[in-house]
Amino acid sequence: MPAGAARTRRAGAADRPPGESAPAGRAAAGRLRPGGAAVTPAFDAPTLIRLKRDGGRLDDAAIDWLIDAYTAGIVAEEQMAALLMAIFLRGMDPAETARWTAAMVASGECYDFADLGRPTVDKHSTGGVGDKITLPLVAVVAACGAAVPQASGRGLGHTGGTLDKLESIAGFTATLSRERIRAQLDDVGAAIFAAGALAPADARLYALRDITATVDSLPLIASSVMSKKLAEGAGALMLDVKVGAGAFMKSAAQAGELARIMIELGAAHGVPTRALLTDMNGPLGGTVGNALEVEESLAVLAGGGPADVVELTLTLAAEMLALAGLDGVDPAATLRDGTAMDRFAALIAAQDGDLTAGLPVAACSETVTASRGGTMGDIDAMAVAMTAWRLGAGRSRPGEPVQAGAGVRIHRRPGEPVTAGEPLFTLYTDTPARFGPALAELDGGYAVVTEAPATRPLVIERIGR
Ligand code: URA
Repeated sequence: MPAGAARTRRAGAADRPPGESAPAGRAAAGRLRPGGAAVTPAFDAPTLIRLKRDGGRLDDAAIDWLIDAYTAGIVAEEQMAALLMAIFLRGMDPAETARWTAAMVASGECYDFADLGRPTVDKHSTGGVGDKITLPLVAVVAACGAAVPQASGRGLGHTGGTLDKLESIAGFTATLSRERIRAQLDDVGAAIFAAGALAPADARLYALRDITATVDSLPLIASSVMSKKLAEGAGALMLDVKVGAGAFMKSAAQAGELARIMIELGAAHGVPTRALLTDMNGPLGGTVGNALEVEESLAVLAGGGPADVVELTLTLAAEMLALAGLDGVDPAATLRDGTAMDRFAALIAAQDGDLTAGLPVAACSETVTASRGGTMGDIDAMAVAMTAWRLGAGRSRPGEPVQAGAGVRIHRRPGEPVTAGEPLFTLYTDTPARFGPALAELDGGYAVVTEAPATRPLVIERIGR
């Protein structure tokens, strides 16, 4: 292998548990016997959909065939949509989830940065509202001496996507070859990129789940997250599993179960994995929307920013550094001394972005003011997410462009004093007709109250060794 090149392998037989055979799918579906007679496909989609619909389990060979045949276009979108709904309703047991994950990993390439010369570690969030943590976090961790190869996604359901946020920076590209990722990990210590050739089955399933109301399924989230993360080549993984009104997991019990499944998947593939369950009842920070969240991340990197964003960034950074064997390093120092900001600027420049061009600002804004004085009560993360989505920050169809400047700025956070007539929220969009539906989503998602709401800890539980 040439020096400086990332090792890439296509996952295949070596990635299957000992004694297992190769997927039956593509081969069985289209191959001819030496004599010319067609081989009968080992499986067919309607039978497997019916099996799952009726509460049965998919065995390893069936899962391998499904993922392989779907990737090859043999299983149609409608069939996979029906199967996803059956999985959503019936679930998958741990062995099915493990095989589904392994099959998705095997659908593409796997990177390996073991020879980088510094430890690699990544984090993944299960999806939140105002969750811009990745942006300051990768810079902090890189400034502390670890390298972060991060395969990221776009918005899913009501949640924002890291790539959508970064693409609000002029020129930024998320399409990186493995050679470029490798070079960037050497030079900058971090790269944030579209999964591309990594777990391509997940990319298609992710988009299909987004439009078929099958996102918030425990085995489908676990396999989606872990397939990308196991393929990207990070040596260790930190998971931020969101819990609450604005998360896919509404209870700590559900989130804990999801975390444990993902930790086991990581361990089974030799990637030490830990998780924090963190509160997602209210939006994280004071902004929700792509460019707005980049602006807030830059404030954190400059040593300011909202306390909750700083706290979660530093808590996750400490966990990642411990996983990388760099326990002695103080991540907070990198926000004070500017080294994290330098890393972020270097990452953006390496990915063709231009921070000096300024961030996009929406053409129109509307401000919601307080009709009375008091204290800001709880703000419902889902209401704010839907407001931002109606304003154009998210998609309603796959591949649709998002508005970089659309979103919500929160002027008063829960527990802060409110004076009658002062701004509580500013809504931004390029499309004024969106204000009506957006305001309707926000209505009822907050209240000015007389007594400050109870404060909730940001970190609910830590799971894993
Ligand atoms: N993040 C992912 O990558 N996949 C999911 O299903 C949810 C969050």
